[in-house]
Parts: sequence; structure tokens; C-alpha cells
Amino acid sequence: MSYISSRLSVVKPSASMAASQAAKALRAKGVDVIDLGLGEPDFPTPPHIIEAAFAAARSGDTLYTAAAGTPAVRQAIAEKFRRENGLDYTADDIVVANGAKQIIFNALMATLENGDEAILPAPYFVSYPEMVKLLGGTPVIVECPETSGFRLTPEVLERAITPRTKWLFLNMPGNPSGAVYSEADLKALGALLARHPQVLVLSDEIYEHILFDGREFVSFGKACPELKDRSLIVNGVSKAYAMTGWRVGYAAGPAPLVKAMSTIQSQSVTSVCSIAQAATVAALEGPQGEVSRFRQAFEARRNLVVDGIRQINGLTLSPPEGAFYAYIGCASLIGRKTPKGDVLENDAAVATYLLNEGRVASVPGVAYGLSPYFRISTATSEEVLFEAIRRIKAAVAEVE
Ligand SMILES: Cc1ncc(COP(=O)(O)O)c(C=O)c1O
Repeated sequence: MSYISSRLSVVKPSASMAASQAAKALRAKGVDVIDLGLGEPDFPTPPHIIEAAFAAARSGDTLYTAAAGTPAVRQAIAEKFRRENGLDYTADDIVVANGAKQIIFNALMATLENGDEAILPAPYFVSYPEMVKLLGGTPVIVECPETSGFRLTPEVLERAITPRTKWLFLNMPGNPSGAVYSEADLKALGALLARHPQVLVLSDEIYEHILFDGREFVSFGKACPELKDRSLIVNGVSKAYAMTGWRVGYAAGPAPLVKAMSTIQSQSVTSVCSIAQAATVAALEGPQGEVSRFRQAFEARRNLVVDGIRQINGLTLSPPEGAFYAYIGCASLIGRKTPKGDVLENDAAVATYLLNEGRVASVPGVAYGLSPYFRISTATSEEVLFEAIRRIKAAVAEVE
């Protein structure tokens, strides 16, 4: 008999990490594989942030901190929300955790009763449904097709809400689609939510700075201030400041929720690393030039990938509006045969084929709840992206 908790029986490991592992395994055998599975900025953390970490460590800022985060970092985050998003929060409304992922985990742990439902617009970030299941909830997947810009509409949302709905997840720009919601889109969702007071909203805004074609970011909190007492605005430094390994995420929300999340934090990890919190203050309060430089680089890569993929017969790609992924449609490959005679039954088979024959690692759409697609990360150099597209094109051309 297994000693592993039954809770784990319903939970899958991260599909993007699995894709990366498969690429690493092939590499270990000497195969030259391009890994476009995992999504993290390929830039170094800006030097002034690293200097702030050194300074914090040298000055003795090396002890446990308050569970919700140091007063300095919570103040810097409250200021960030005011300055960049037009949101009115005090330091007491803020909680810091080891990445936005832990913020989301803590929020769900603080609120879900067995069988509570969380509405997840698909395609969704792979960890959302697994966290919901791990904590006893039921993910309710609502497909948001490419024809609606991969965005949730009030009509689709209304059909998914039940008396058991505890959470609605929103993610903009979205991973994997890059979809962005306008203020009008958010207000329309908010008007519907106003009629369903049992629903909390988790707005994951971690890619807010990676927006293309001159778009302006509108936080859910700004568009729907009337829902402030049931909205959790989630963000972090991972993507904007190239700080994925520092593990700092944060959220602003209603006092009872923030308090419950910091209680969980105090009994699990105590606090986030004191040095990483000091670095986060420097990131949020320091010069922001690198953030826009990263954004420009991601936009140039987005353009390169859209041009390249559009020249491949059999693949489709609507230009992503933000984030650093391309969610590539592969409907016309499904049912066709590889040179070895295997039928490409679904997008998982397409991703496997691209890995084995094209030597490019991607993540199949099935992992994001909307098929048939595969996701590539564009957070890599233009040379590598060129070569990856060349390989994908050559592999797709071989499909009969
Ligand atoms: C939508 C989304 N939310 C959260 C995260 C996790 O961010 P963090 O590094 O802050 O845990 C990711 C990372 O890929 C993401 O894509």
C-alpha cells in the first residue's frame, strides 16, 4: 500500500517542467535539442537589484522577517500598486510569498472547502487546476476559444457559475495565449460578478509589463473597484525583473484573506528570504529602464515568431498581445501521419513528434485545457528562435 496521501492521486506534475525534463533527457543522450518548454526571462537580473541583495546581506538583514513580508517590501508593493495600477492599498493589505505560485496556493488553502469550485478559463496556467485539486476544490474548466481572442466572456462565465463557485481565475496577459483584457472586457465581467456575491476573483497579473503594440495594462482592481472586498490582485517580480529564481510573489486583497494567507505562511515557510525581499524593494523602487528594454526584446521576438510560424503550412498563430509565449494552432496536422507512419492523434502527439523529429521541446495544448495547440516560450534569443522555427518547419513539412 502506498504511503502517499490520496490527495496526490489527482495531481499531475507541471507539464512545462516535464517538457523540459524530456528535452534534458534527450540532450543527455547527445541529441541537440532546443528547449522552448519552460518560460522564464533569459536576461540577467538588473545589477542594481543584485547590489541591493549584497548590501542587505552585509548589513545583517539576514533574519526571519514578518510572515507577510517586511514593512519595507509591503510599503514598496503598496506604492507600486498605487503608482502603476491606480489601486489604493496600504501595507497591511499586502502579503508576500515565495513566488506568485505560493501566493495562489496560500489563497486557495485559506478559502477552499471540499468540493468548492474554481472557474478556470482555458487555456490556463498549468498549475491552477492542480493546486485547486490538491486543496480539495473542483476545477471548472471553461474553454475560451481563439475566436473570442482566448478571452472569457460574460455569457460563458454566467453558464459556469454555480452556488459552489468560490473563485474565478483571470490571468492577463495570459499564459499560454498572451491574451489581454481591455477595461471594457473586465467591467463586463465585473457587472456579472456583482450579481454573484459568493465568487472571489483571483487576478494573476504577473505578465503586466510584457505588453505589445502599445497596449496599456488595466488591472482587474482598477476596472472593478466595486469588487475590491473579494478580489485578490496577484503579481510578483519573476517576469518583470528577470527574477524567477529569487522567488518573490505578492498580492493585495481584503484583510481577512490576507491575514489568513499570512497565518498559513507563518506556519509553513515562516517568511520569504529576507535578502530576496530587500532585492524586491530595489526592483520596485529603483530605475525601471530594464523592464521596458525586456519588453521591447520580447516584442521583437514575438514578431519574429509570428512571421516564422505563419509561413509554415499546417500551423496557425494569432499574434500574442503580451507575455512571452506563442500558442500555436495545429488542427490541420491532427489525423495525419509522420514519416514513420505514426498518426498524430492529438496535440500531445504533435509535441512528441516535434521533440523527437524536430528536436524542439514545446508543451502540448492539452496541458492548458484547450486543444489542438502547442506552446513555445519566446524567452530566448532571436538566433535560437530562428533555428527552432526552421526545425519546426522542416518537421511539419515531413507530415503526410
Ligand atoms: C500565469 C503565471 N502565474 C504565476 C507564475 C509563477 O510565478 P512565480 O515565479 O512568481 O511563482 C507563472 C510562471 O510561469 C505564470 O505563468
